[in-house]
Amino acid sequence: MKALSSSTWLCLGLTFLCVLQSIHLNYIFRKPLHTTAPSQYPHQVDEHQTATSEQTPPPQDIGSLTTEIENPLIDDTLLSDEPSNLFYFIQVSDLHISKFRSQTERFLHFVQSVLPVVRPSFVVVTGDLTDAKDVGDIKTVQYEEEWMLYKNAIDQGTTNGQENGLPWYDMRGNHDCFDMPSWESNVNLYRTFGKSAHLLEEGQGVYSWQMKQNYGNYRFVAMDACPKKGPARPLNFYGYVTTNTMDRLESTLLDETTFNHTFLFTHYPTTTMVFGLGDILKSYHTATKSLELELGDMKDHGVYRIVAVDHDLVSFVDVELPLDAVQPRNDDPYRFPLEDNNTILWPDKLQLPPVILITNPKDGRYFLNEKEPTHRILDSTHMRFLIFSPHEPSTLKVRVFVDNKRHPFPTTYSGNKGTTASSPPLWTTPWSPEDFDDITTHSLRVEVTAPDGQVGESEIFFRVDGVRLMIGGGFGEWLIGTSVANIVSQYGYK
Ligand SMILES: *[C@@H]1O[C@H](CO)[C@@H](O)[C@H](O)[C@H]1NC(C)=O
Ligand SMILES: *[C@@H]1O[C@H](CO)[C@@H](O)[C@H](O)[C@H]1NC(C)=O
Repeated sequence: MKALSSSTWLCLGLTFLCVLQSIHLNYIFRKPLHTTAPSQYPHQVDEHQTATSEQTPPPQDIGSLTTEIENPLIDDTLLSDEPSNLFYFIQVSDLHISKFRSQTERFLHFVQSVLPVVRPSFVVVTGDLTDAKDVGDIKTVQYEEEWMLYKNAIDQGTTNGQENGLPWYDMRGNHDCFDMPSWESNVNLYRTFGKSAHLLEEGQGVYSWQMKQNYGNYRFVAMDACPKKGPARPLNFYGYVTTNTMDRLESTLLDETTFNHTFLFTHYPTTTMVFGLGDILKSYHTATKSLELELGDMKDHGVYRIVAVDHDLVSFVDVELPLDAVQPRNDDPYRFPLEDNNTILWPDKLQLPPVILITNPKDGRYFLNEKEPTHRILDSTHMRFLIFSPHEPSTLKVRVFVDNKRHPFPTTYSGNKGTTASSPPLWTTPWSPEDFDDITTHSLRVEVTAPDGQVGESEIFFRVDGVRLMIGGGFGEWLIGTSVANIVSQYGYK
């Protein structure tokens, strides 16, 4: 056998070094997240624990969290046919409003045809508000027209019926910071036109808002993920969060006040909403037992997500705009739908098919047992679901199937039982959950036919004993049990 040549030896040597380096990197990446110096972190936790030792369980001890769940025997909050203890909001993402491409229409349809029907408590947009690409799809440019359309569509399209307009929260995605030297730069058009620019600026990349209801307090945290200095494509497909931003995120999440639920919205690495953070986020390096839900885009798929919190059970449905029904405009080829005087050229209104969001029983694939009172399902007297439709409730035909058999009890509109004017579009039907307490999975399908013949359908899988079901694919990629520490450390190192 011939001796190896010197270049082969060199090659082998380099390969060996590469392997060593990748092992080293892998080790670094897997280390728990430290936004500050590693030695400081345990110290911070200790301090925190001392300050709040009465209410707070040791962050390391996940098991002790279960003691926080209300004892089922003394929980008198009943899921019945009352339209109470319930709110919902909408999340959209990746609008990619473009001067040159027709996807802009989808956002206009959403604002014009979806929002007045769904009437959410607020809308949150998780980044990529504008496309920022030139006509040839090659160069990246921040176009003022794209931002003006975004702002004007919201200002002109969402004030109807609401005194101060619809609360609207947004943040930047990577497209919103192409070629961006700094926040102060005059190409940072988000600063001028973004709806939450002042919040993001004050919070230096992280801001939060709350919903205080008489039945609970809910917190929402948004994180800007623009690279500090935005290089042109394709270098900034992966954003990163600066150490300072991470520190601010940490202190926001560590806020003393307790919340029934905390939701975290961000654009990177994919567009996600994370919830179920609760107290356990008081320590980054424990598994957070939260749920990370990626959302499809508005740009190509016309997707929006409705998230409901019903008696602290969190449910959601991802809906696509009925784009098959969209007629191209007469003035095709694509014309930018903003007049010189900043008036939006709205497309023809869409006739939305009924959209159904089942809230009780909650879909068992998304249980957060440590954070949600899932025992309320077994105690409930009614199945509950929201039906969004432009038609009068009395004109809708609603059919409920459990395990593919017609549910024998009548389904009624309960939204009008509330004392306030803005009751949720709640429908209920009586049931006996104990009949389904047989350690098996059951299905619930709700079918709604509108007077115009359009049919909406929603199906979930449930268990009444709180046991979480496996997530078997479905729309998009669902990640479950991903700890925020891991997500965040990815950002930190990318
Ligand atoms: C919200 O949390 C408070 C305090 O733990 C609790 O009393 C209340 O019942 C919760 N709200 C709901 C709707 O479960
Ligand atoms: C804006 O201009 C269009 C025509 O370009 C006109 O139809 C519309 O009434 C104008 N709107 C306002 C608010 O002036």
